[in-house]
Amino acid sequence: MSTYHPRRRLIQGAAAAVGSMLFPLAGKVQAAESSRFQIGQNDFLLDGKRLQIRCGELHFARVPREYWRHRLQAIKAMGLNTVCAYLFWNYHEWREGQYDWSGQRDAAEFCRIAQQEGLWVILRPGPYACAEWEMGGLPWWLLKHPKDNFLRTRDDAYVQPARRWMHEVGRVLAPMQISQGGPILMVQVENEYGFFGEDLEYMRVMRQALLDAKFDVPLFQCNPTNAVVKSHIPELFSVANFGSQPLAGFKALASVQQGPLMCGEFYSGWFDTWGAPHRRGDASKAVADIQTMLKANGSFSLYMAHGGTTFGLWGGCDRPFRPDTSSYDYDAPIGEAGWTGEKFKAYRDGIQPFLAEGESLPPVPPRMSVIEIAAFALKESASVFANLPPRVIKTTSPQPIEQYDISRGLVAYRVTLPAGPAGVLEAAKVRDLAWVYVDGKQAGTMDTRHNRFRVELAARSKPVTVDILLYTIARVNFGVEIHDRKGLHGPVSFKPKNGQAQALENWEIRAIDFDVDGKLPPLAWKPGRPQGSVGSAGPAFWRGSFDVSSSGDTFLDMSTWGQGVVWVNGRCLGRYWSIGPTQTMYLPGPWIKPGRNEVVVLDLTGPQSARIAGLSTPILDQLHPERDLPRPPNTAKPKLDGLTPAQEGQFQPGSATQDVRFDKPVRGRQLCLESLDAFDGKQFASVAELALLGVDGKTLNQSSWTIAYVSSEEANKEDGSALNAINGQITDHWHSAYSGKPPFGAHPHRLILDLGKQVEVAGIRYTPRQGADNVTGRIRHYRVYVADTLVVQD
Ligand code: GLA
Repeated sequence: MSTYHPRRRLIQGAAAAVGSMLFPLAGKVQAAESSRFQIGQNDFLLDGKRLQIRCGELHFARVPREYWRHRLQAIKAMGLNTVCAYLFWNYHEWREGQYDWSGQRDAAEFCRIAQQEGLWVILRPGPYACAEWEMGGLPWWLLKHPKDNFLRTRDDAYVQPARRWMHEVGRVLAPMQISQGGPILMVQVENEYGFFGEDLEYMRVMRQALLDAKFDVPLFQCNPTNAVVKSHIPELFSVANFGSQPLAGFKALASVQQGPLMCGEFYSGWFDTWGAPHRRGDASKAVADIQTMLKANGSFSLYMAHGGTTFGLWGGCDRPFRPDTSSYDYDAPIGEAGWTGEKFKAYRDGIQPFLAEGESLPPVPPRMSVIEIAAFALKESASVFANLPPRVIKTTSPQPIEQYDISRGLVAYRVTLPAGPAGVLEAAKVRDLAWVYVDGKQAGTMDTRHNRFRVELAARSKPVTVDILLYTIARVNFGVEIHDRKGLHGPVSFKPKNGQAQALENWEIRAIDFDVDGKLPPLAWKPGRPQGSVGSAGPAFWRGSFDVSSSGDTFLDMSTWGQGVVWVNGRCLGRYWSIGPTQTMYLPGPWIKPGRNEVVVLDLTGPQSARIAGLSTPILDQLHPERDLPRPPNTAKPKLDGLTPAQEGQFQPGSATQDVRFDKPVRGRQLCLESLDAFDGKQFASVAELALLGVDGKTLNQSSWTIAYVSSEEANKEDGSALNAINGQITDHWHSAYSGKPPFGAHPHRLILDLGKQVEVAGIRYTPRQGADNVTGRIRHYRVYVADTLVVQD
């Protein structure tokens, strides 16, 4: 056992209360046995002795409870001494006022196991977390409130429930603080607020909520390097989040406070979204950066040390709308199923020389056993339409589902459309995907990924029934888009060719609410393929089973299915989507019973083959764009000839965010950034982030922006999607194409944004691709155009 075990000793009296040299802390320590953790001038101090925090992130909700100890042992064996854990508010309070800390949600037990394994804990209770988790951890019922932009603000409709949540967290976990003999060293307030807002009073309110909840260990905030300075408040210790250039992060911290240097999230890899290439993180670069931090007397937390799986329906969604895969492998050093391979070894070997005196690395825990399951057929089905619950909601015009107390799932809408000429059915908004049927025949799809809320309908000689089946995937977890109200948003209108649009009224709504853990409705199973009056080949539940004599981990191969959700023995495993990149679903051994195991699959588009096998290795990197919902061809072309640029010039070299103010503001609905050359002299262009400045110097709201045109984007070797330039994350980027068949196109490269409405633009805030000094794609000379129309359809 290493000497770095959270120590227990007797402390006499209130004089031994934990405190921070820099920050006054509230509350008295009641516990008899405790240690003292402080933030010193240059170091973290544990009972007065220097402690370099080598932390790794693991979300207990993403790891089967039965495996918590195994994974924590692997974290310890990687050379880490601390585990960082988010709490996801909505995971514990899915229905307002009903808290759940049992089983898989037993955060206190997770802390106890960490302590037994010789790890300290850094707790990040939110209220907002991000983390590619449904709505960033916020509960959906907050959205019943009709207000706009009130989440993560000082608005009472948010602060009151958030304070209640923090109070509940304190009740359950304040006793686990190091000051009371537990392993919790520090607690984070909020999460990367600097990415989101400017109201630092809000951070003070959130801090106070934790103090009132009896947290007396040091409280801190984390922000990406470029938001550290603007978000720092003296009451909170600051740490910086980054995936490269550690010394730049530390420099930002040193400019705001005297204290130890810490990276709050160091990215070992990155998350995946459906339809985009699997992301990887380079191990040798990461290890070099970790060593740089350790040599600089810094501390760090690896995001993720072990990503695991977003089981159930808890997956989140990147902005503006890119849902995350269920696998949260993250290319982390400890893989999705807890496997430790070369990457793990590189991290362990890299960290070992920096262990404290007397510390040694425990052995690496062996893999859990793996089984294969021979392909089995799902021979029964239950059509979604034939199994809708009897409760009908009647409404003039559909409202977001939160208004009907529906949390998530499948929502069926029905309306009558009178006889008349062909035309276009259009909803104000659709979150997330919808299939439109006319008298039982599929007429088209609506798809929020492409802001496609219209479907063309044929002429009708008599009134017809329009059925719309809507599927919610996930609420956005990042940016102002967290105000992500689901469902069909009215008015829904029909516009006949050459006629006036008329709102369709008198809707009937029926919903299968999957609720907290993916609750299945009662289903009437029939042998064979689904039957039903509407969409007989379409959306259905399927049922089958497999038998095992002894259990082990396995990976269900969903590659012949369409899109939907999987349950095993009634437990919701998560979402699948055969567009990839993830094709398998991790099924942990402890959730398989000896004997017969029942599998239920919801498939919205129908399987190619209704069979599933259990594989011995996961498939995380196979894209199948041809399996996606039909998407109208993109025929957009830029039209810039004869236009005068709003601005042209040369960017600064390096990775820093830079503001360019136009000589005079320009109004327009579209904006084009054009690259003329790059600093490395190559033919490629990339952009980490592009924000626009209004006349008041503040950034403009991006929530209704779309990509109107991009000259090319890399879609195979990496996720170079143009959306990465407007998703608020500086860690990823748009990159012009460089794989597949040459030629890839040379400068000028063009990225044209549609801003949703005409706005006055006074400048741009450009963040170059992050990484080393000579990284490819950093634009040197540029032009910016602003006008109502910069794109024409061919
Ligand atoms: C940010 C957040 C994390 C996570 C990462 C991306 O840094 O703080 O919660 O969302 O981005 O994985």
